[in-house]
Amino acid sequence: MADIATDVLIIGTGPAGSTSAALLSTYGIDVMVINRYRWLANTPRAHITNQRTMEVLRDLGREVENEAYMFAMEQDLMGENVFCTSLSGEEIGRMKSWGKHPLSRAEHQMSSPSLMNDLPQTMMEPLLFKTACSRGAQARMSTEYLSHVQDKDGVTTTCLDRLTGQQLTVRSKYLIGADGGNSKVAEHAGLKFEGKMGVGGSMNILFKADLSRHVAHRPSVLYWVVQPGADVGGIGMGLVRAVRPWNEWLIVWGYDINQPAPKVDGTFATKVVRDLVGDPDLEVEIQSVTTWTVNNMYATTTQNGRVFCMGDAIHRHPPSNGLGSNTSIQDAFNLAWKLAFVLKGTAGPELLDSYQQERAPVARQIVTRANKSIEEFGPIFKALGLLDSIDPVKMQQNMDARCNDTTAAEEQRRRIRDSIAAKVYEFDAHGVEMNQRYASGAIVTNGQEEPAFERDAELHHQQTSWPGARVPHAWVFGPHGEKVSILDLTGKGRMTVLTGIGGQGWADAARKVGKELNLDIHVVTIGPRQHWQDFTGDWARLREVRDSGALLVRPDHHVCWRSQTIAAEPEVELRRALKSILAL
Ligand code: FDA
Repeated sequence: MADIATDVLIIGTGPAGSTSAALLSTYGIDVMVINRYRWLANTPRAHITNQRTMEVLRDLGREVENEAYMFAMEQDLMGENVFCTSLSGEEIGRMKSWGKHPLSRAEHQMSSPSLMNDLPQTMMEPLLFKTACSRGAQARMSTEYLSHVQDKDGVTTTCLDRLTGQQLTVRSKYLIGADGGNSKVAEHAGLKFEGKMGVGGSMNILFKADLSRHVAHRPSVLYWVVQPGADVGGIGMGLVRAVRPWNEWLIVWGYDINQPAPKVDGTFATKVVRDLVGDPDLEVEIQSVTTWTVNNMYATTTQNGRVFCMGDAIHRHPPSNGLGSNTSIQDAFNLAWKLAFVLKGTAGPELLDSYQQERAPVARQIVTRANKSIEEFGPIFKALGLLDSIDPVKMQQNMDARCNDTTAAEEQRRRIRDSIAAKVYEFDAHGVEMNQRYASGAIVTNGQEEPAFERDAELHHQQTSWPGARVPHAWVFGPHGEKVSILDLTGKGRMTVLTGIGGQGWADAARKVGKELNLDIHVVTIGPRQHWQDFTGDWARLREVRDSGALLVRPDHHVCWRSQTIAAEPEVELRRALKSILAL
């Protein structure tokens, strides 16, 4: 007999675990979340927060999304990405990043109701955790996962209460391993991985210093520093990252993984800070120093029976592109509604297979992208002539050569410009963040062909209602003029049918089939004199079906089935689609 019983036990209160707990408790599921430490993240690791993640927070409630903005650095302060010899030294180049370029900003605004921002993990985690606990999740800190066994009805997990030293057992119907890059749950569940851990060495130096005079005129969250050794290990180049403007900072500096990790004491850390800032007398308050390894590994299986893993447990990669916490939160959004449906009996357990079908390709994609982004610093060092010698004097001469009035120098200047511009794949890869299209048992395409990407799919988000894609965002208007996104009309733990004039048959079918399957299907009709109106015509241009057609949208905003027009037997069509998607 277990000590505690719950429907879902979650190991870890990081972005993945806290989001899962917040979503499941919002959906009315009995959930418990544990963390081996007494509190949440103690250093501000993740920070770049993309629009898709903010859509998850928005789905949890406007108050959750708005609280995130209150603590975040807004998009305008994020994007003058500087490459320099030190913060007080020479600036080599700059690129507008994270939607700072006006054309990119327009794409961001057209893609989503939510805004990209910079929210340190020390602020994101408490927000998600608070949301979970205030909505009914049980949280147990200082509780360490040790092992689990599963049978056909559930999972029995053994934990250590670190306050009493006693072991306790938790019986749950499902177990989520959101226990980070060294996941014991993934190991014990026998998940399969590809790639390699420890391909580079890196250190984080967290410090306080007022650097306003070096940065306030070119506001950014990332300042990249080219100095001897900056291309060794780490994330491609020395990094000075703003945690709070402009007096709290984090330096990321690499070390050779083939050597033992350096002993980073206060003196060493202060020297690195002063070197990268370029001020030998800078007043620095070192707050913490940690070393970590750059990983290049992703899971090809994300679940085993009743045990599911998510977040860094299934994708282990460097922070390049800022995808870790974002993807972890999005993993949770994918799995939580499926667990809720199965636990409530409105879907068959096979629905859960779609988690792996949908998220394993994302894990592979982002691990590959993040590691490629490290390599893509190489051409900048090459163009500067820094790879041709290890003699600092010669390296400086090679860099100085770009200022000459010669054809060779002009060519060198072009190569420097081009290699910096190519870093758009790390610093403004809107498509990587937004373009996820799922193919799984929980998507019914009825043979409709996937629309090809018209532009670079890593850089540009392309909206489509093709089943598998996230439903397009457009603003529509309510009876009192209120402006809401299509995303606001979907999600919230429910299936939604979106239709228009001539789609009454879909609305009737949704009510009837919903009752039959015990499903709460939300019906939204958009058109003149309907509850929601499309005054701008944006929705009609984006929805890719006729007025009388329909989109069936899952609780995680992904379209799972669509019909071009009203069907001869809408009820039959909708029932068939829902039964297939929900494995009924
Ligand atoms: P995470 O590691 O955060 O949490 C794991 C949880 O499990 C913790 O609560 C831990 O205590 C708990 N746990 C582990 N073992 C346990 C056990 N046996 N028993 C009980 N509890 C256990 N990402 C991003 O999206 N944008 C960004 O800008 C950046 N930037 C960034 C910069 C730097 C320098 C780093 C190092 C990392 C980033 N990241 C990032 C990555 C991001 O920090 C990372 O991907 C997420 O924290 C992963 O979230 P998880 O919830 O999966 O694991």
